[in-house]
Amino acid sequence: MNELSDIASWLTTNSVHHESGVHASLPDPTFISEGKTFVSFSSNNYLALANHPRLVSAAKDGLDRYGVGNCESRLLGGDLDVYRELERRLGALKHKSDAVLFVTGYMTNIGVLSSLVKAGTMARLYGYRAVKRRKYVYYSDEFNHVSIREGIHMSGVPSHKYRHCDMGHLESLLKAAEGSTPIIVSDGVFSMEGTIAPIPDLVAIAEKYGAILYIDDAHATGVLGEHGGGTSEHFNCYSPNIIQMGTLSKAFGAIGGFVAVERDIADVIRLTSSAYGFTCPPPPDQAAALIAALDLLVEEPQRRQRLWDNQRYFVERMRPLGFELLSTETPIVPVLIGDAERCLNFAKALKAEGIHVDSVQFPAAPIGKARLRFMMNAGHTHEQIDHVVEVMGRIGA
Ligand SMILES: Cc1ncc(COP(=O)(O)O)c(C=O)c1O
Repeated sequence: MNELSDIASWLTTNSVHHESGVHASLPDPTFISEGKTFVSFSSNNYLALANHPRLVSAAKDGLDRYGVGNCESRLLGGDLDVYRELERRLGALKHKSDAVLFVTGYMTNIGVLSSLVKAGTMARLYGYRAVKRRKYVYYSDEFNHVSIREGIHMSGVPSHKYRHCDMGHLESLLKAAEGSTPIIVSDGVFSMEGTIAPIPDLVAIAEKYGAILYIDDAHATGVLGEHGGGTSEHFNCYSPNIIQMGTLSKAFGAIGGFVAVERDIADVIRLTSSAYGFTCPPPPDQAAALIAALDLLVEEPQRRQRLWDNQRYFVERMRPLGFELLSTETPIVPVLIGDAERCLNFAKALKAEGIHVDSVQFPAAPIGKARLRFMMNAGHTHEQIDHVVEVMGRIGA
């Protein structure tokens, strides 16, 4: 026996479940599980693109053309025209001249944040001589995604956590460490809170302190802004200082992650990040599907409009029920329940009515602040929303 088997038997004895069931189809937002039909109110498939016929057909063409995988690092023999085209398109969406593609969003954050601070060391191998060696320090919002926290930890440089979206606190930390090169990191839309980071304030602070700004737009890309460009488009606030990170597994319905930057910076990241150079990108059929998703973002703006219409419809109907809605700015509308067990019971009661909603508790949310994470979808009908609101009212009472 070792500790792993002790833990495994303890988890089994104490009935600790960490999966929400195995399903027979993906939420679009309706899905089948154990022979029953459910409506998901917690899917990242915001625009219901994951099974759009155009994406499916583009992926099939990609399979026919390239096969099922690329089997090699892009720095060696694995670079394909379809990746370059996808990167060019992602860069354009983010008003940058290039983008760097990674296998997932998670790997993007880990890969870029752990290595960004080592660019100087890498360049020295090629003969680069810096005027001065930089002392980097990370500044990270307390509610940033776990992949950000892990990437920063792996970098090995000092880091500070600032209170959620608290610019005063961020500045006080920056002032205390003058002389170093700060890297400020924030989710664009916070995945468990639904809040939007104050991008114009972050840009101003980054300029004032000579900082690099890294924005994780996983839940904003394709969702926020008139053209789905994310938080910068939402605020009409662009800056050469921003490294724009995004995932391709949410609004775009496939898999992958990227950072959008200017071309010269993209090359630095390609050289520096092991998560780019020492592993493979997403399979080429996914890249082909993602190019179709980018086309649809332009051709079918009604998807984004329906998403926001559904968000407003849901929020208006939930308000009179007396629940605390933690934020109502984005399609992520967390409903505070508080006690973790009560929250799980809510989710179970919703499931009995054919509705799936994530019950989010510690460590994904602070202790005592368990919540139902409602995520609105372009594919929801008003009838489905009326139903979930009616059930919430009934269970709440
Ligand atoms: C804010 C944020 N960043 C990064 C990720 C990771 O993205 P992916 O699922 O594409 O690996 C997620 C996914 O949940 C996320 O919510």
